Amino acid sequence: MEYLTTSKNLIETEKIGKLIASNIKPNFVIGLIGDLGAGKTTLVKNIYKSLSTDKTINVTSPTFTIVNKYPADMPFYHIDLYRLHSLYDFQTIGFEDYIDHNGVCFIEWVDNIDANIKRDLDISLTITENHERLIKFIAYTKKGREILFIVAQGTAPLKGRCPTAD
Ligand SMILES: Nc1ncnc2c1ncn2[C@@H]1O[C@H](COP(=O)(O)OP(=O)(O)OP(=O)(O)O)[C@@H](O)[C@H]1O
Ligand SMILES: [Mg+2]
Repeated sequence: MEYLTTSKNLIETEKIGKLIASNIKPNFVIGLIGDLGAGKTTLVKNIYKSLSTDKTINVTSPTFTIVNKYPADMPFYHIDLYRLHSLYDFQTIGFEDYIDHNGVCFIEWVDNIDANIKRDLDISLTITENHERLIKFIAYTKKGREILFIVAQGTAPLKGRCPTAD
């Protein structure tokens, strides 16, 4: 199932982050797809802002650390596969353990390696000609569809497109 919307600015991205956070469940895996600077880290920052109890913690890009863990009711993992090259690299980061321990995982550049990572939802961001962000939600599971519907209820669909089952 897919849903397309846009974010014109950081305020709209913050609102989308809040909508996603409102329905996050343990063991949730979300893939983030999009070019450099598309807004993957910015969206994750905004999701964490809503889930965190300590407002002094600032989410930073995991491009060099590969995995950043943040405190929240459910352990919050922010992963970036940009610098990984193989399935072997991926297996060394302990991903399965995060899921088994009720964590929520956000994985930037999830399509960078051929690791067949099972996700509930992918969020694909594209920079438009007028510097807005086109955001596509692709749900693979019931949990993923729940988030998709929450976002669809709280945002304007792109050119009147409602969630579709493709
Ligand atoms: N509507 C918007 N939503 C999100 N980010 C926006 C928006 N408009 C402008 N930006 C800016 O775009 C940049 C996105 O950077 P960000 O680090 O989030 O990208 P990224 O996709 O994580 O890149 P990378 O692949 O390098 O990790 C930020 O500087 C942010 O302020
Ligand atoms: Mg990033």
